[in-house]
Amino acid sequence: MKKIWENPEILKINREEPRSYYIPYDTLESAVKGVKEESHYYKCLNGDWAFLYFPREFDCTNGIIQSDFLKWETIPVPSNWQMHGYDVPQYTNVTYPYPVDIPYVPDENPVGLYGFETEIFSDFKGRESYIVFEGVSSCFFLYINGKKVGYSQGSHLVSEFNITKYIKPGKNRIVVKVLKWCDGSYLEDQDFYRLSGIFRDVYLLSRNADSHIRDISVNAALDAHYKNGLLSVKVDFLGKKSEYKTSLIDTDGSTKEFTGDLKLPNVRKWNAEAPELYTLIIKCKDEFIPIKTGFRNYEVSSKGEFLVNGVPVKLKGVNRHDSDPKLGYSVPLWHIKRDLTLMKQHNVNAIRTCHYPNTSEFYNLCDEYGFYVIDETDIELHGFVYRDPNIKGYQTYNDEWPCNMPEWREAFVERLVRMLERDKNHPCIFAWSLGNESSYGKNHDAMAEEAHRRDKTRLVHYEGARYADNPPSVDIISHMYSSPEDIENIYLKDGDKRPYFLCEYCHAMGNGPGDLKDYWDVIYKYPRFIGGCVWEWCDHAAVKNDENGNEYFTYGGDFNEYPHDGVFCVDGLVFPDRTLSTSILEMKSVYQNIKTVLKNENTVEITNLFDFTPLSSYKLEWALERDGDIIDSGSIGLPCVLPHKKARVTLPLNLPKVCKDGVCLNLSYVTKNDAKYADAGHEVAFTQLDMKVKRVKDALPSDILRILVNEDRECVNIKGKDFEYSFNKFYGGFASLKINGEETLAGITSYGVYRAPTDNDRNIKNKWNSYKENFKENELMNLMGAKVYDVKVKSSDSEVAITVKSSLCAKSKLPLLYVTTKYLINGHGFITVYTDVDVRETAVYLPRFGMELLLLQGFENIEYYGMGPGQSYIDMKNYTRMGKFKNTVTGEYVPYIHPQEHGNHTGLHWAKVLKDKGTGIEFSAEKSIDFCASHFTAKMLEENSHRHTLTPMAETLVRIDYKVSGLGSNSCGPKLNEKYQLNEKKFSYSFTIKPVFKN
Ligand code: GAL
Ligand code: MG
Repeated sequence: MKKIWENPEILKINREEPRSYYIPYDTLESAVKGVKEESHYYKCLNGDWAFLYFPREFDCTNGIIQSDFLKWETIPVPSNWQMHGYDVPQYTNVTYPYPVDIPYVPDENPVGLYGFETEIFSDFKGRESYIVFEGVSSCFFLYINGKKVGYSQGSHLVSEFNITKYIKPGKNRIVVKVLKWCDGSYLEDQDFYRLSGIFRDVYLLSRNADSHIRDISVNAALDAHYKNGLLSVKVDFLGKKSEYKTSLIDTDGSTKEFTGDLKLPNVRKWNAEAPELYTLIIKCKDEFIPIKTGFRNYEVSSKGEFLVNGVPVKLKGVNRHDSDPKLGYSVPLWHIKRDLTLMKQHNVNAIRTCHYPNTSEFYNLCDEYGFYVIDETDIELHGFVYRDPNIKGYQTYNDEWPCNMPEWREAFVERLVRMLERDKNHPCIFAWSLGNESSYGKNHDAMAEEAHRRDKTRLVHYEGARYADNPPSVDIISHMYSSPEDIENIYLKDGDKRPYFLCEYCHAMGNGPGDLKDYWDVIYKYPRFIGGCVWEWCDHAAVKNDENGNEYFTYGGDFNEYPHDGVFCVDGLVFPDRTLSTSILEMKSVYQNIKTVLKNENTVEITNLFDFTPLSSYKLEWALERDGDIIDSGSIGLPCVLPHKKARVTLPLNLPKVCKDGVCLNLSYVTKNDAKYADAGHEVAFTQLDMKVKRVKDALPSDILRILVNEDRECVNIKGKDFEYSFNKFYGGFASLKINGEETLAGITSYGVYRAPTDNDRNIKNKWNSYKENFKENELMNLMGAKVYDVKVKSSDSEVAITVKSSLCAKSKLPLLYVTTKYLINGHGFITVYTDVDVRETAVYLPRFGMELLLLQGFENIEYYGMGPGQSYIDMKNYTRMGKFKNTVTGEYVPYIHPQEHGNHTGLHWAKVLKDKGTGIEFSAEKSIDFCASHFTAKMLEENSHRHTLTPMAETLVRIDYKVSGLGSNSCGPKLNEKYQLNEKKFSYSFTIKPVFKN
């Protein structure tokens, strides 16, 4: 017999038609206040429910469904059962975790049986009772007092049932049988942990039995001059209609009563920067229904710009999943608020709810905090591309895809409609998205038609339309991961008039992304390029205990699940626990809305990139630094520069005539007033200007100090006043650097080219490494020590010059590169290193090139002048600044869930690595270099798959690099741009090593 959950044409039994989200209240006061728990017509059923888990649906018999809850276990509602020890979290990206055999799912289909007993209904006497499920994965049957009430599917959508006729006075028994998989699961192949259960709120609504409002449609728009508000409210009843009254309450409490339409002269407008909301109250019989509304228009200009209230706006977006390492999909409001607060603090103005609608209240918060939202339908069929090894990629209008099959049409359309109807009243939503990565078919046409028919005030988005040549069904041309070059040279030149948008870009996986700024240079250049959403907001993980009982963050495979997609779920701007990573700081910097350029000695030009906020809302705090020390600072209010306008500001600067490392003007723009997401004083933009002051380096000590040089078969030994060095001619590096009689080195100095691959190196690393048996590729990982061809020593009583000719090679390969190094050592203990490198023409670009020094335990403190204080790379340094910084080596570690290269500082002038008492080594260079100090070798980082297994070594590894290749975003995005690759075949650099003596 055909099962309901294996029939794509049965999507519901007895479920109510979709409607806008609202809560009815019993008093006007509580409705205006809007705290739903205070409504007598709302009862939340969240809490501990009785629970039984069955690995096979087959075993969940009717007898068990009727059995005594006392014999059951318990589970919190809402939650995912995999987070409570039943079954395991399984992470898969594209691949379906079961056979592609539509509409069938495995016979071993797990069930979670939920039970709840309540007397609550006595409060509801004489009224209509509804039960609402905000999210259940993947489908469920509802039973009340032993009777089957209904069925629903669509995990991230609301299911509402009228249960009036099933309830009785006294105790009532609610049972919900949830199946792990159903035909609908084929439409839910999003890239995430596959989790099940009742994961969003469950509640009861009590409604007037005679007649009550079913649905409310609010349209709050602006007139053609964007001045006056036009409000229209439509109310729908199921069955008997009755009188109702509508009133609009302003923030000052003034109330206007009206019916149908209302004109508001000089209305307060809603936008993401100033999300002004009005409260609408609809009173019908004994119910008061509040709906927050905001007046705004979303349009597209003839140039393809995205207009908010007539103003062209760039979307500075992120993709956000519901995700928590302990709560799974069940994210409570405080959790969502934390995400939104962090986003606001980091200059985000747009969110794509990838790849399904969020809980209703999420949109209330977006209305309040101010975000432009793309609401996405709960549809992804990505796994269809892998269903047969002979088939590659998407096939549009193809009959093997459900998106083109008539029997799946309603399943597609109703997912869109349920979302649209639920969320239609939110000012924050500017576009409906038809889903993600589901190819393109007739069912998409049908969805788009339905969206346009039901809502003329918003745009329709679907990236997959790209594969069908972007038919008129979509109002936005959307791509993911196209490179800035292709966008500029190909896609923006295609003659299309629709806005161009990146629904995903800058894959923020691991260390990176390194290309944000490059995208934004293009976005600002073209009116039609309206912005994009970074993939993605947070790392997804689950929590597990290691052998010592300590919790750690997992990724795919850690629960021995099969199939899985490994580390691809830890790809967010923030860690699973929302700890910030450097990628979110980089994003904040690139997304910032105040741009500053230097015009002359003390005048800067400030451009207001906000769309609605004048610059008078901010203060400018400035500091002038010479060689990293503040020499002057001040704070000024900003003039009223209107949005998209610029102005010049003169600062009272007295620039010094000379400096050693540089004179920088640091400009920090901070808020004057408290906001919902940050107290006054919050930095919204930061720019550093190089003041171009003449740099004069310290003269080298003029006194000539004597050294003793003695050469034996293997070593050149050099002795000076407070130092003693030994250069090993056999290995071609220093074997000992003693300062104040103390050894610093734990090994022989050498050159290195390798770094522990970042996630963004995941493609190029196959070329870097002679991967397993594949000897066709390169060799960087397995380089042997240097091959030394020749060492020449020339000494006087005050200086010694050692010239080494060497190469770096790997087994079974031609030498990778040849190096000529000249070391000049003087009586002050200074070692000046001149390095000339010839790289084999055919070699792949190098991760980095530089000298590696392994220092003994105790070299824990660093000081440097370079780009910091966070890690900086040639293509990820916008968020850092040039300055003088101190840190510990331990503090340089960046705890990626999946260990990888980190901790570099680019633009380095000098760095000291010191012991507690001050002994140490200083490195300095005329032309800036890259520097890194770490307790981890590349090998350690590469060989540990998780951060909790990584143990720092006592020694400190210092890299003094000519260059380090950039990071890019090639984990999913384009190849690393050549300008960021260390691809030179011939280069030279020099730096000086100086002893730092005890203080
Ligand atoms: C995209 C997809 C996202 C995610 C990302 C990789 O193709 O839309 O859901 O899988 O790739 O992290
Ligand atoms: Mg996908």
